[in-house]
Amino acid sequence: MLELSHVHKVYRVGAFGAGTMRAVRDVSLVVRPGEVVSLIGESGSGKSTLGKMVLGLTKPTQGTITFEGNDVTRLRGFGAKKEYYRHVQGVFQDPFSSFNPIFKADRVFEMIRTSYFPAISDAAWRAKVLDVVGTVRLDPDNVLNKYPHQLSGGQLQRLLIARALLLDIRLLVADEIISMLDASTRIDVLNLLADLKERGLGILFVTHDLSLGNYVSDRSVILRKGAIAEMGPTRRVFENPLHPYSRHLLSCVPQLHRTWAEVDAELAANPPEDVELPTVAEGDDSAPLVEAEEGHFVGIDQR
Ligand SMILES: Nc1ncnc2c1ncn2[C@@H]1O[C@H](COP(=O)(O)OP(=O)(O)O)[C@@H](O)[C@H]1O
Ligand SMILES: [Mg+2]
Repeated sequence: MLELSHVHKVYRVGAFGAGTMRAVRDVSLVVRPGEVVSLIGESGSGKSTLGKMVLGLTKPTQGTITFEGNDVTRLRGFGAKKEYYRHVQGVFQDPFSSFNPIFKADRVFEMIRTSYFPAISDAAWRAKVLDVVGTVRLDPDNVLNKYPHQLSGGQLQRLLIARALLLDIRLLVADEIISMLDASTRIDVLNLLADLKERGLGILFVTHDLSLGNYVSDRSVILRKGAIAEMGPTRRVFENPLHPYSRHLLSCVPQLHRTWAEVDAELAANPPEDVELPTVAEGDDSAPLVEAEEGHFVGIDQR
């Protein structure tokens, strides 16, 4: 359904764009219908950049992204984009920023109506709204006709998912959607994602939190400095991490705040024994993977 092939993103930075920042390096992955794929990595590892490229919000500098066979980077014109967003939607970390505080929260539904369902009757539209609000397990009386400040972060986040469900979505890009929620609401939203998966949606679930990635996903992709360090069935990756970086991450989940320098020092002191990682020549910006066991890949060791 969604396929990324050798995707790179290099940002121009600094005065006059003189410098470059390699945010994504040679990433290839797929998301199939009904599959949750977690994209896991520290802050700055390129997760959001990948999500934005999938959503057509920024273009890869190299590589291709296809959705149901169509090249996402070549969506030209309003009509093609609109059609794409009928099937692919994103939900982001801070739900409050997606709502205009001076309008009622359900205005986000009206915007979908105007763009995609201009001819629908009021009654049919209301039935559709009630249906999606129920799907995200919200009580319409609690959330409709309210201002954003009257709702919790979890309710707003679920309204945004409901908005996506008004369309015929097949892929949801969920970028850190639970990191600002409290613990009990997080579980509700994760259960909701599990429901959506049951309905055949593909979900790219972006997170910096390893324990949550484990909870929902079929496959996990561990990203380090823009490149894939390890990718495979979530259970295999979590039970048998092969890349030194994944091993490190999993061995010290409560210590994710440690600095790169500390992580690098520890990795250097504890080299992997049994897994042969792919290597690239100096100056080569590819990031090859090797298949260590079926469907379970390891990448280069970037220092
Ligand atoms: N628009 C931009 N211009 C320049 N650099 C950017 C831009 N967006 C992100 N970056 C840089 O790219 C890297 C990856 O960022 P991002 O994809 O947001 O990571 P993550 O979501 O994993 O925290 C970071 O070093 C970030 O500073
Ligand atoms: Mg991010």
